[in-house]
Amino acid sequence: MNGRFWALGAATLVSAAAVIAACTTGPMPAIPLPADGSAGSFKSEPVTQFERAGKKSGFLFATPETQDMQKDDSDNPAFLLVDQGEAMWVKAEGGERKSCGSCHGAAANMRGVGVAYPKVSKETGKLFTLEHQINYCRTERMKAPAIPYTSQAMFAIETLVMHQSRGLPMNVSNEGAARPFFEEGDRLYHTRRGQLNVACIHCHENNSGNYIRADLLSEGRSNGFPLYRLKWASVGSFDRRMEECYSQVRAEPEPYGSDELAKLQLYVNWRANGLLVETPAVRR
Ligand code: HEC
Ligand code: HEC
Repeated sequence: MNGRFWALGAATLVSAAAVIAACTTGPMPAIPLPADGSAGSFKSEPVTQFERAGKKSGFLFATPETQDMQKDDSDNPAFLLVDQGEAMWVKAEGGERKSCGSCHGAAANMRGVGVAYPKVSKETGKLFTLEHQINYCRTERMKAPAIPYTSQAMFAIETLVMHQSRGLPMNVSNEGAARPFFEEGDRLYHTRRGQLNVACIHCHENNSGNYIRADLLSEGRSNGFPLYRLKWASVGSFDRRMEECYSQVRAEPEPYGSDELAKLQLYVNWRANGLLVETPAVRR
């Protein structure tokens, strides 16, 4: 365990280092998770639109300045990408010379769609993130090239689709065909990784509300993606965030769009069930 890595922002706060150091010696203690996904709820405070069933959105861990950027759409730089997504929505492409709009009509028809992803695609039996579904429509229905999962073009179209559900509760199913993928995601969430040998749960459940360096650890809820990050000075997806969370513990990041990240996202989005979609959120 590298002590410097865990240097905390404020000495008066409970030491995340001590808690995590304690967790990393010996086998991980069994942590009973409530079946409704309300893990972490013991730290809840009065309910706001950013808190549901004891789950707190990352919004509540952001500084007032960052919150203000999210609250006012004209101050939120991610709306440039929403505009880009709208242009993509109506652009005919590929062998079929079709646009998203040719089949789906107005982008507003996507309201309520994003809240249920990732989900198992009926056509393929695969676990699809919203990004996989968008690329499936492109390659299979438009005969157009897939959009790279690392590109601002992907974040733009995904942001446009997810933004239509802003204000609706996340509603991801972990049942039926999704079950095996969910169980794998659950395992990934609780698996220690990297040189620091730490799992998601150690930062986002055991230590939410504590500082790690300059970052106030949130509960790791995913109801704001894709979101604008001040650090990136651009918009990014869940997978982009994971690149950093994996790197934080010095683990090899997973490629964007991978099956592993889709399963992890299924679990994490399910954990956020009930929280309202904020896309595009703004975070540090
Ligand atoms: C070493 C600590 C650490 C670990 C381990 C870690 N993260 Fe994070 N994570 C952070 C920090 C720091 C942030 C940015 C501040 C915040 O929202 O907590 C963050 C942010 C997030 C967010 C964005 C929350 C928001 O509101 O925008 C999600 C989702 C997330 N992490 C999920 C995960 C998942 C899933 C794992 C396991 C693969 C994981 N994290 C592992 C430190 C960690
Ligand atoms: C040729 C017609 C066609 C085009 C073009 C097309 N789609 Fe689709 N799309 C479908 C059909 C059919 C389905 C499956 C039935 C459904 O769920 O509506 C679907 C499903 C979806 C879904 C999942 C809906 C759900 O309820 O889960 C999303 C999201 C989506 N498309 C986005 C897009 C985007 C973004 C584009 C443009 C890049 C696009 N589609 C282009 C026909 C099309």
